[in-house]
Amino acid sequence: MKGKHGNQIWNWMGYFYDQFYKSFPPYLRLHQKIFNILKSSSRDSKWVLDAGCGTGLLSVELARRGYPVVGIDQSSAMLSRAWKKKEKENLENLVFLGGDLNAKINMPSFSFQQIILIHSLYLMEQPQVTLKNLSSLLPPGGEMIMCNPSRRLTKRELLSGGVSFLSEASRREGMQSIFYLIGIALAMGVLNHSIQRRKTRIYHCWDESEVRDLLRPCGLRVKLLEKSCLAGSHLLLWAEKGK
Ligand SMILES: C[S@@+](CC[C@H](N)C(=O)[O-])C[C@H]1O[C@@H](n2cnc3c(N)ncnc32)[C@H](O)[C@@H]1O
Repeated sequence: MKGKHGNQIWNWMGYFYDQFYKSFPPYLRLHQKIFNILKSSSRDSKWVLDAGCGTGLLSVELARRGYPVVGIDQSSAMLSRAWKKKEKENLENLVFLGGDLNAKINMPSFSFQQIILIHSLYLMEQPQVTLKNLSSLLPPGGEMIMCNPSRRLTKRELLSGGVSFLSEASRREGMQSIFYLIGIALAMGVLNHSIQRRKTRIYHCWDESEVRDLLRPCGLRVKLLEKSCLAGSHLLLWAEKGK
């Protein structure tokens, strides 16, 4: 996502993000999948980097489960929400930092075993460069977990996804929440649409073979690649850096 304007959209998104995603079943199922991946990965004292951590929904869950986590994001509004959650629960194993993943990030005080990019790599100006920079922070055997769109949703999928989101959320949170959720979903839809529409903005999609091409120059070997999120429109990837 380019420059100040891109950042501004995420700052607006910060107002609605949690209300939408903390009740969005495909996103919660994705988190569960990531927890399972991490459970089966080597667990040592090294840090997990949540790159493009947003409001810290995943970082906080991981820290609650005992992982030492660094979350990094460029949006001050997203990060300030993340900070509040960390402070509220006094999570000492969780650090949030401001930073632009389009630039080279140096974090000499942390050594990472896993880097997680959930719905963030596709927003970078040059994802290949960002991925290479990030993978240079991993030791041999270190792991990259990411989820990105592989194609655009059709109108029918968008509609049926919206209906199932509203019915699942209203079952859980009560019928009175339905108008509130519709409002949040519409606001998120408008912001997402404006991210994708502007010609100056960059929005990448990769199919399976393109994801593999993206990983190869970084020395990353695929351990798992599967369809994920709404109507299988995303790819969840788990890869390991060559030893
Ligand atoms: C769709 S949100 C995903 C947030 C989080 N990973 C999650 O799963 O909830 C994308 C995030 O990427 C961040 N982002 C976009 N471009 C960035 C950049 N160049 N550097 C750092 N963060 C960036 C945005 O600020 C936003 O918080």
